Amino acid sequence: MPAIVLVGAQWGDEGKGKATDLLGDRIDYVVKFNGGNNAGHTVVVGGEKYALHLLPSGILTPGVTPIIGNGVVVDLAVLFTELDALEARGVDTSLLRVSANAHLIAPYNTVLDKVTERFLGQRKIGTTGRGIGPTYADKMNRVGIRVQDLYDESILRQKVEAALEVKNQLLAKVYNRRAVVADEVVAELLSYADRLAPMVADTSLEISQALDAGKTVLCEAGQATLLDVDHGTYPYVTSSNATAGGACTGAGLPPTRVDRVIAVLKAFTTRVGEGPFPTELTDEVGDRLRIIGHEFGTTTGRPRRVGWLDVVIGRYATRINGVTDFVLTKLDNLDEFETIPVCVAYDVNGVRVDEMPMSQSDFHHAVPIYEELPGWQEDITGARTFEDLPARCQEYILFVEKQIGARISAIGVGPGRDEIIQRYPLTED
Ligand code: GDP
Ligand code: IMO
Ligand code: MG
Repeated sequence: MPAIVLVGAQWGDEGKGKATDLLGDRIDYVVKFNGGNNAGHTVVVGGEKYALHLLPSGILTPGVTPIIGNGVVVDLAVLFTELDALEARGVDTSLLRVSANAHLIAPYNTVLDKVTERFLGQRKIGTTGRGIGPTYADKMNRVGIRVQDLYDESILRQKVEAALEVKNQLLAKVYNRRAVVADEVVAELLSYADRLAPMVADTSLEISQALDAGKTVLCEAGQATLLDVDHGTYPYVTSSNATAGGACTGAGLPPTRVDRVIAVLKAFTTRVGEGPFPTELTDEVGDRLRIIGHEFGTTTGRPRRVGWLDVVIGRYATRINGVTDFVLTKLDNLDEFETIPVCVAYDVNGVRVDEMPMSQSDFHHAVPIYEELPGWQEDITGARTFEDLPARCQEYILFVEKQIGARISAIGVGPGRDEIIQRYPLTED
């Protein structure tokens, strides 16, 4: 039965949390498959705001089993802080499962993330400082610590000591920081082991059994297509695979079981951190869009960089992820604009290109070619069907749909759970 993958189409913060929440009552399992607490999802339920980082957004729907997959990097202190905060607000989190193969963000990796960024100076990535990059680097270097290591103290100690052998040299000799004591790290990690134990599972097996039993499984990405370590704007990316393929490796889900790929596309573009951004607006129009859209980071509070919609990126997201359905979000944020420019291609050194340029240098030099669409200048927050929308707004949606090459099945007209237009069904039932 259906496995659905949900990804971000741009540089994150498209409204994936809200889209997942929208599917909540039609899914049985929600799996986070990449990233960690670098993500920030704001979900508004009944006027109440929830900010989720490490936990999948589907945790807010009663009866849905949330899973932290093997592809996620877990900061245990953050995990329990988030769980406690949700429990205190009456959310039942007892069904949570955590993969035994997920890697742990050791405290030294959070330190290393921050000092590395400081050391890079002008060349920094603008990371969230949560230890994500160094933890994935350890995983690839085969010196990572996994959830299952918490249950074999001597192995855990050996692994921490091995990791610290090099890291302490780096911290002390290159970054001029205090060396980390292995015993302290081991003691901190072990302090969470008992509480975590009942949640630890072979999550890939559970997902497979759930699908065999006819359950609906939603795999929810953190970050987004252009932040993907392979397909994004490298090196200005996160350190995991945030595209649809990442759901297979990060959840242990075979590609042949994926039925549908939903991408969330914001009606304009934002980016947090450094890196190229062709349609970026650094003028007062950008400031206006940032204020209207409340574009300040959920995780770090940083003002997000903003710009017009770029359908070259949308088209790329369709191709890389095999998108079957788009959820177009924050369309209401464009209500007051007289004209709405949409970037349909780039001028790269005098040549028009309609696809993402192959090289980063070309993408850096890409100058947007815009088509100006007339704005509708009407409040659309009350619309609940496509026909409720003003004619110019409908035309805008149809234009974007044609450009990105996959249908727009849902349209966000406000942050609330019910502020959505469902045009085509997003699940089979
Ligand atoms: P995520 O990281 O992709 O889950 O997105 P974030 O939660 O970081 O950012 C999206 C923001 O937009 C959140 O504050 C949402 O409440 C809000 N949002 C989502 N969809 C809509 C929409 O259709 N209209 C408006 N006005 N806000 C929305
Ligand atoms: P959600 O899931 C937007 C960005 C950071 C930085 C780069 C690398 O809310 O869409 P990292 O800490 O991951 O090593 O930082 O990636 N970044 C995000 N930007 N939304 C996110 O998540 C992000 N997660 C990481 O700003 O540029
Ligand atoms: Mg976010």
